[in-house]
Amino acid sequence: MKLEQIMALIKQRRSIRRFSKEKIERWQLELLVEAAIWAPSGSNAQAWQFVVVDDAATLQRLTAFLPGVLQAPPAMICLCVDYQRELAQAGKLGVKILGIMDISMAAQNIMLAAETLHLGSCAIRGFNEDVIKKALVLPEQVKPELLVIVGKPLQPAKAPTRRPLGEVLRWQTTSTRAKRTMDKKTQFYDLLAYIAAAAKEMHNDPQIYASLRLLSVMQRLLEMAADEEGLDQIFLQETQQMILEKRSLLLNDREQFGVFLDQLTRKIATKNFS
Ligand SMILES: Cc1cc2nc3c(=O)[nH]c(=O)nc-3n(C[C@H](O)[C@H](O)[C@H](O)COP(=O)(O)O)c2cc1C
Repeated sequence: MKLEQIMALIKQRRSIRRFSKEKIERWQLELLVEAAIWAPSGSNAQAWQFVVVDDAATLQRLTAFLPGVLQAPPAMICLCVDYQRELAQAGKLGVKILGIMDISMAAQNIMLAAETLHLGSCAIRGFNEDVIKKALVLPEQVKPELLVIVGKPLQPAKAPTRRPLGEVLRWQTTSTRAKRTMDKKTQFYDLLAYIAAAAKEMHNDPQIYASLRLLSVMQRLLEMAADEEGLDQIFLQETQQMILEKRSLLLNDREQFGVFLDQLTRKIATKNFS
């Protein structure tokens, strides 16, 4: 897709609140949810659940509890966070904020995909949570966080104004720009700062993240040691490369991540005792 096309799509999308009575095909609604699951997700937790409602009677009754929605939409997607899963996958930070962020990004994917299908949509946060939870029979740990109503627009909507770029965009100024020279002393203090910040993060992170933080410390140490006389530079580069290639296994395949940590330890031990 070309840049102009994606910019046009982003700018064309409008919040639509009035729809024709036409039903929305299930394949279209499924496609919207498929777009949602390809949104980024903090820690790749994907603790979301999407409940699609396309039954006219239910939508009619639910609309009574959506103060801002004047007329029942032809379809609605309820974006929920499974907080039990979120806690297990992404820790306390996940529960506090990442789940909601994931849902927001998924919602934008839904609304952009809807636009390409010539469907109108609108994010709705003004709803009674208990009623939605009850009506959609959501388990205790699953909380509805946002609704997206969908349908064929009754009429084109005018774009609400945007605050101008000049008002909201701020370029980094000279005073906030980091020192350009990365000498050993700066690298050392940055590493200290990183360890302190990582220790603070570990308070909220799931335990498994501790390995990742320690690997980051190793990577920074390896960077600092580059060009250092008396050290085996090839070994350092290989180790750096190995970490770079394998660290993402933590999110994708925890068993293989463990295997990689064993390999890494063996590699370093072999060097140590050679
Ligand atoms: C998180 C969020 C919650 C929203 N909740 C509501 C809502 O409860 N009712 C409503 O009519 N519109 C709601 N909207 C739609 C906004 O009013 C709309 O996006 C904004 O006016 C800009 O218009 P546009 O989407 O056409 O660009 C919500 C939008 C977002 C992002």
